[in-house]
Parts: sequence; C-alpha cells; structure tokens
Amino acid sequence: MEKVTDLELTPEAMLRMGRSAVDALVEHIMNLPDAPRSNLDDGQKIAKSLWEKPPEKGMDFESLLDLFMNKVIPVSINTPHPAYMGYIPGGGLYPSAIADFLGAATNRFTGAWFAAPAAARLEANVLEWFTQWMGYPKSTRGILTSGGSLASFSALVTARKHLLVENLSRGIIYSSDQTHYCVMKAAILAGIPEQNIRLLSVGSDFRAVPEYFEKAIKSDLKKGKKPFFLVGNAGTTNSGAVDPLLDLAEIAKKYKLWYHIDAAYGGFFNLCKEGKKILKGLDKSDSIVLDPHKGLFVPYGSGSLLVKDGELLRSAHMLTAEYLMDHMIPEGEVNATEYSPELTRSYRGLRVWLPLKLFGVKAFRENLAEKLHLTRWMYERFLEEPGFECMAVPELTVIAFRYRPKKGDVEAFNRKLLAYIVKSKKLFLSSTLLHGKFVIRVCILSFRTHKAEVEEAFEIIKNAAKKLDKE
Ligand SMILES: Cc1ncc(COP(=O)(O)O)c(C=O)c1O
Repeated sequence: MEKVTDLELTPEAMLRMGRSAVDALVEHIMNLPDAPRSNLDDGQKIAKSLWEKPPEKGMDFESLLDLFMNKVIPVSINTPHPAYMGYIPGGGLYPSAIADFLGAATNRFTGAWFAAPAAARLEANVLEWFTQWMGYPKSTRGILTSGGSLASFSALVTARKHLLVENLSRGIIYSSDQTHYCVMKAAILAGIPEQNIRLLSVGSDFRAVPEYFEKAIKSDLKKGKKPFFLVGNAGTTNSGAVDPLLDLAEIAKKYKLWYHIDAAYGGFFNLCKEGKKILKGLDKSDSIVLDPHKGLFVPYGSGSLLVKDGELLRSAHMLTAEYLMDHMIPEGEVNATEYSPELTRSYRGLRVWLPLKLFGVKAFRENLAEKLHLTRWMYERFLEEPGFECMAVPELTVIAFRYRPKKGDVEAFNRKLLAYIVKSKKLFLSSTLLHGKFVIRVCILSFRTHKAEVEEAFEIIKNAAKKLDKE
C-alpha cells in the first residue's frame, strides 16, 4: 500500500509553527494603537481574490500565516483596537487565545463529565462563579455557549418546556421594543409564532414601562392566551438602558411567567459596586444570559446561560442514547451535554477560566468600574459642548448622541458625521435608531480603552462635528 501523508508534525515543526504564530500575534497586538480603527476599502476585492478550489496539495505554514496576518486581517473593522467603540466591544484578552490553543491542542472531550472530570470541573467553576456574582442560588445550573443568541435559545426552550408543554401556539412573550433581536429569533426558532411576541413601547429613557406589560398580559389572558415569558433587559444594545428589573419581577411573579433577563452586555457590571446599584433585581429572574465576550473581555465565541432551577434546564435538554453509557457522576458534578443542545464542542470554559485565574477577579471589577466612570466623563463633555444632545442619561457604558447643525437636516448631518469619523480611521463608532431618530452610539467597554482614548475620541467627534457644521 502506498504510504499516506503523515498529518503528525515533528517536534521542530510544531515549535516553529507555534513560535511564528505567537511572534506574529505579539507584533500585531503591540502595533494595534497605530493601526487604522477600520479599513474596509479593499475588503471586497481581497475577499473575491481569495476564492479558490479545495487545495489538493499542501504548502508552507509561513506563507499561510503571512496571508492571514497581512492580507485577511487588515481589511476589517479593527474590533480589538482601543479606539473601537462601535456596537459592543470587548477587546479579546490574549490569555483566552492561549486557552483556546491549549484546549484545542490537548483536544479533551468535555461534553460528558467522566471523559475529563478535572477539565469539566474548571468549566463548572466558571459557571459557579457567574452564579455567585448574579446572586443566584445553589440550585442554579448553567451552560457556556458560543454567544448570547444561543444562550437565549436555550432559555426559551427551557421556559417553553416547563410552562407551555406542547401548546406552543397559545404562548405569549413580552419584552420591550428595545430587546435584542436574538430573543425574538430564539422564540421563533423555539416554535413560538412571531405574532405571539409582544414588543412593548418604552419610556423616554428607553426603559421598559411595567404598566404596559401588565396591560398586555391582562388583555391576552382575556383572549384565552397563555402568557409565559417576560424579558427584562440589563443593558440594551441601542442605548445601554436597564429596565426596571424589580418591577418586572413583580409582574412575572404575579402572573406566573418565566422571568428572563438579557444581561449579555450589562450583567458583568454586577461585579463592581457602581454596577450593582444599577442592576438591582438581576437575582429575581428565572434565567440570565451573560456574554463573557462582552463584559469579561474574552474573544468572540463566549456566551452563557444561568437557570435558577437547574433541573428545568436539564429536563429541557436531556436525552439518552445507548451509545452514551450511563457513567455515574459524583454529587455536585454535571454532564454538560445534559444541560445543553450540544454534545461535542470546544473546551469553552478554559478561555474564561484562564484570564480570571491569571489576573484575579479584582482586575475585572476595576476595569468595569473604570468603563462606567469614563462613560460618565464623556457624557458630561457632551452636555457642556454646544450643539450636541444625548438621547438619555447613560446607565451603563453606551452614549447615544447626535449633533444639531446650525442649518439643514439633523439626520442627514449625523449620517454624514458618522461616515466622516469612520472614514478618518481614527475612531470607530456605530449608529442606531432611537424613537425613530438616527443617533450615533459610543460604547466604552474594551479593556484597552482608558482615559486617553476616551479624551481623544471626544476631541475627534467634536472637531468633526464643528468642521462639518461650517461647510
Ligand atoms: C443586549 C444583547 N443581547 C444579546 C446579544 C446577542 O449576543 P451574541 O451576539 O453573543 O449572540 C447582544 C449582542 O450584541 C446584545 O448586545
């Protein structure tokens, strides 16, 4: 028989590959401050040039690394940049990247406890820490997911199984119209008809109005519907608004609804005392979604769900099969697959565990508190500067603002202003609509963003607005 190509590398080749990759990455990270904040100019052209048939023959690693670092990565929004303040930043901690490398290279199976008990325990630790930080009880079970979207899906599936059983068409969901679209997507994927999702108007501060929830629930009950799922937001994507979480908890309790909080963006602010005050009521929910790839700064690919009555999460996801032998597990330990839609998956917990152990929780608490202070600082600059208006007082770290030009259309001016700022490549911001008005958003969350970057960002925004206003 012909000799097959060996897919195992020599120790020298493995070391060379690892070193080249790490060298390139460290250089890349050290050069971040001078790199453009976004560069999509040739993105389409380069993307098109990369189309190819499956490569029959291999090639050298150095060329592939060069292609990735010097051709692929530069044409993108520079999301780990300290001046990236668009959408929801996080930065992407380097130790998490090392954790992914360690997890993949050792390739242990962590879907079932028995296959790697100690590795499973590290993931369980992470979930137990989240449980403690959210003020949830010991009965809580959780899962680590790829992001907030899939975590929301499992929350909905759990509530559906528990409260609706098979009767999906009657089940009604209530949330403010500021709720992230992933919750609606999760509901639809979970089989809830789209017309059963009530997106209720918010107040002038973009927070949910509890009376509207109660009114809608009563009206649906009268029609013979089955209200079952109520969503509270702990930090909306649009404006960072935190809903009146305690009031919503009361309503959910009164009408026996599942109370879910989307804390994908805001939940980890509960680690610092400034955030705790704002997030009062998180612990009153039945489930919470938290995204470590936002508030814990780990790279994209980390969401999580906590369910207060862990048995409900399990009963919604638990199936058995003859090929999954019934291995006994000790009291207090969990088989991840029994709580999750997944079986085989990456060793996701390590990318959260490693930076928390390496830096300690204090470092995260300080960074989160710093982002709240920086946001407050920038908000005050906006208030002082003639021409600018903020749409609401920021509760967390999003400022939604616009500039009122001396003449002309406000919306057209602000669209032009955002395009001008982004084109300068000195700062990246994004936009949204609030009560139908086009606004520019600043979101301060990257662990790399400190006072100097926020001061510079404000100067860039101010100078751009004044310059365009003179034209
Ligand atoms: C408030 C909020 N909820 C949910 C999500 C969805 O999370 P993911 O993108 O991790 O799936 C986001 C994403 O930005 C978000 O900001």
